Amino acid sequence: MEFEKVLVSRVSTRKYNDKMPSDEDIQKILDAALLAPIVHLHKFHLSVVTSKEAMNLAEDAAAEIFGAPDALIKMPRPYLYNAPVWIILSGKIHDETEAPKAQAELMNVNLFWDVGTIIENMELQATALGLAHCGINTTVVAMRGRPDVRKALDIPDGFDALASVIIGYTDLKIMERKVKPELIPVSYVK
Ligand SMILES: Cc1cc2nc3c(=O)[nH]c(=O)nc-3n(C[C@H](O)[C@H](O)[C@H](O)COP(=O)(O)O)c2cc1C
Repeated sequence: MEFEKVLVSRVSTRKYNDKMPSDEDIQKILDAALLAPIVHLHKFHLSVVTSKEAMNLAEDAAAEIFGAPDALIKMPRPYLYNAPVWIILSGKIHDETEAPKAQAELMNVNLFWDVGTIIENMELQATALGLAHCGINTTVVAMRGRPDVRKALDIPDGFDALASVIIGYTDLKIMERKVKPELIPVSYVK
């Protein structure tokens, strides 16, 4: 698929069928993650989850937060939309044990920039392969204070889940998107 076509076809998808992406396509998506502009200051890990049992555990944890009667942001299950593949990016958040607080904060700004590029590269590669995707934060934030869930998802000790993306096939028709200039105002400094 041509790059411009990939850009206009990329869309967050929340309905999946059961078809499992091939190992080759999953590997291409992981390679895309590694081709992102990664600053070599940070420690990352990718967990490729296809276990329904592990996904259900994460769904249960998310339901405790987003399904609670008094939830600030209320969202129904399934948080992973029954997608067959869930890729979690985890990493070591910088803190005062390795650098003064202000420097650790600066490194974390840098870290989260990396996180965005890694996830986006995977989303664009998935789109190019004819696969649907959606960035997922609900089941990521639900892992805070849940070492049992992090362990089940093979997140290394000392790492936090930072972002994630689901991948799979959809029966929905993917429409080409239009650029919406109102999304981000632009100014030119000449
Ligand atoms: C940081 C981040 C977290 C997101 N978390 C979720 C999520 O938990 N559940 C969900 O359905 N979509 C999630 N999304 C998808 C966004 O809702 C979606 O990207 C946004 O609405 C724009 O739509 P588009 O991706 O189709 O352009 C997330 C996206 C980002 C960038």
